[in-house]
Amino acid sequence: MYKTQRETEIHKGCRVKEWIKEGGRCWWRARSDDILIGTYPKSGTTWVIEMVDGIMKGGNTSLCLQIPSMARAPFLELNPPKPFPSGLEMLQSLPSPRLVKTHLPFHLVPPSFLEQNCKMVYVARNAKDTMVSYYHFHRMNKRLPEPGKWEQFFENFLTGKVAWGSWFDHVTGWWKEKENHQMLYLFYEDMKENPAREITKLAKFLGKEIDKAGIDKLVDHTSFQNMRHNPMANHSTLPANIFDQSVSPFMRKGEVGDWKNIFTVAQNERFEEEYNQWMSRLSPRFRTEL
Ligand code: A3P
Repeated sequence: MYKTQRETEIHKGCRVKEWIKEGGRCWWRARSDDILIGTYPKSGTTWVIEMVDGIMKGGNTSLCLQIPSMARAPFLELNPPKPFPSGLEMLQSLPSPRLVKTHLPFHLVPPSFLEQNCKMVYVARNAKDTMVSYYHFHRMNKRLPEPGKWEQFFENFLTGKVAWGSWFDHVTGWWKEKENHQMLYLFYEDMKENPAREITKLAKFLGKEIDKAGIDKLVDHTSFQNMRHNPMANHSTLPANIFDQSVSPFMRKGEVGDWKNIFTVAQNERFEEEYNQWMSRLSPRFRTEL
């Protein structure tokens, strides 16, 4: 059932922690007003967190500048070595409504989110740019294995032998569930094309009224340039033995179509072959250039 050993571990860790019972009571469960933010890694998670957080704060972006992103939207399945708190521990101490970040494929999302009918925001990014971004992320993230040569990483990604498994399973797994839950499914490319439109869509989904000036402020606050220089969004608060930003910055390029700078013609053909096998008429449609 699980694509990779890593995925199995993530699943087990999350389920076990969620369902551990102390004195007959579950010590962690989703709350009905939790907002679950799901993505495959490198799809614009940090970006959409900034948008959602800004909306939830009524467009008052100065309130988003006080705490790092990872504390405003704790990472559900994060389980770092002690003394660092796990995602679940951070979530437990967060007041409602909480933003919860996850990279879990839909079938591994803890059931209490579904039972509580929580709102979910999913962002998908085209596989080619996601793959390139993930490659550079592996280079700088000292908690992930060395990616090796690009050619090797390309194959690992296509065959789902990376953390959080297959991109194909991920984007289609969430897509299939979007009508069954309170879910807004967004695309990175649409966010790039027209951030004001996508922020407006998000605000409506979250039941928040933000006027035109507020939307403009949020567009500015969540622009690549501003987030790149914002220490509460660019992960510069993490030490170099976790994210070594001298190797590759977390806020790297933020573009659609960067894949063209690294894919060879043969790799593009191989990609298209694999893509057509996995994706069908009913799958989400992706743009690889704007
Ligand atoms: P690149 O590596 O292609 O630059 P995640 O937050 O899911 O890890 O995704 C990180 C990717 O989203 C990086 O892509 C990063 O630059 C990009 N990103 C983050 N904030 C962005 C923004 N405001 N506008 C465009 N891209 C952004």
